[in-house]
Amino acid sequence: NWTTGNVIEEQVAAIRELVGDRRAICGLSGGVDSAVAAALVQKAIGSQLTCVYVDHGLMRKNETEQVEKDFVAATGVQLKVVDAEERFLKALAGVSDPEEKRKVIGREFIRVFEQAQAEIIADEGPAVEFLVQGTLYPDVVESGGGTGTANIKSHHNVGGLPEDLEFKLIEPLRKLFKDEVRMVGQELGLPEEIVQRQPFPGPGLGIRIVGEVTKDRLDLLREADAIAREELTAAGLDRDIWQCPVVLLADVRSVGVQGDGRTYGHPIVLRPVSSEDAMTADWSRLPYDVLAKISTRITNEVADVNRVVLDVTSKPPGTIEWE
Ligand code: XMP
Repeated sequence: NWTTGNVIEEQVAAIRELVGDRRAICGLSGGVDSAVAAALVQKAIGSQLTCVYVDHGLMRKNETEQVEKDFVAATGVQLKVVDAEERFLKALAGVSDPEEKRKVIGREFIRVFEQAQAEIIADEGPAVEFLVQGTLYPDVVESGGGTGTANIKSHHNVGGLPEDLEFKLIEPLRKLFKDEVRMVGQELGLPEEIVQRQPFPGPGLGIRIVGEVTKDRLDLLREADAIAREELTAAGLDRDIWQCPVVLLADVRSVGVQGDGRTYGHPIVLRPVSSEDAMTADWSRLPYDVLAKISTRITNEVADVNRVVLDVTSKPPGTIEWE
């Protein structure tokens, strides 16, 4: 019979046996899956595991800190953080086509990760033979099927690194569904903010800015996104929605009025959706007072934003993300 305790015990024993006295590495994305996979492997082999976190500068407010501080504090994991913000911004300069952005981000990510990997391998110690991945049961099933969103947009995530032949894979979550992974994470003592985190795309806020990605635009979007998340959480709506992308229409301006002055600012789009598996989705009927609060706060608190709009499109025909 299934209990999180059993799953943890079984996996810990199996991983110990498999790895022996060798070493493993794991890429952390800030998401639930890689965090729980890493925590499980850490429990099994301790300092024989090294995690790598590539900070591409496209994360939301406080997410990098949650990985660097809270996750490390909760697990004691050995973590190598690579600050690659400048490198990503440089590579993204002048790029506004969505697929091009995804390709650039994916390519830079792999380069930075491989560099970090090489440094870890070069460190003294036993051979690094294993790569930990947070593959879930639905991923296993889906990759057999081969249809779905992956064909529409070039997806990028930490689990999607090219299979490096030098490594043997450890995939401790292969038999689990998302809610089970969350339970295992909770049992392992991971921070609530990580365990309950809603899906967030690998390319991050880079694909939530319609137009070129710049530092100023990212900072602006981070503020708007933080306000939306704060209010959704305060209203107790986190479990009712699948996720709520917040999108900056950086190439659009509209006229507004604030105080006694005319403004000419950018719109922010709220895209709250409900879904079972992200393959299809419906727009969430959020309470008007919550929407009003988010709108008021964003237009008051975020400079250069003078309009908040709500996306009322289901998927299909819209996708969840705008790019
Ligand atoms: P779409 O926009 O295709 O998104 O309806 C479906 C789900 O996938 C997430 N998403 C991604 N996740 N890497 C990821 O790990 C990606 O490149 C990526 N693109 C979209 C999206 O947030 C939604 O949950």
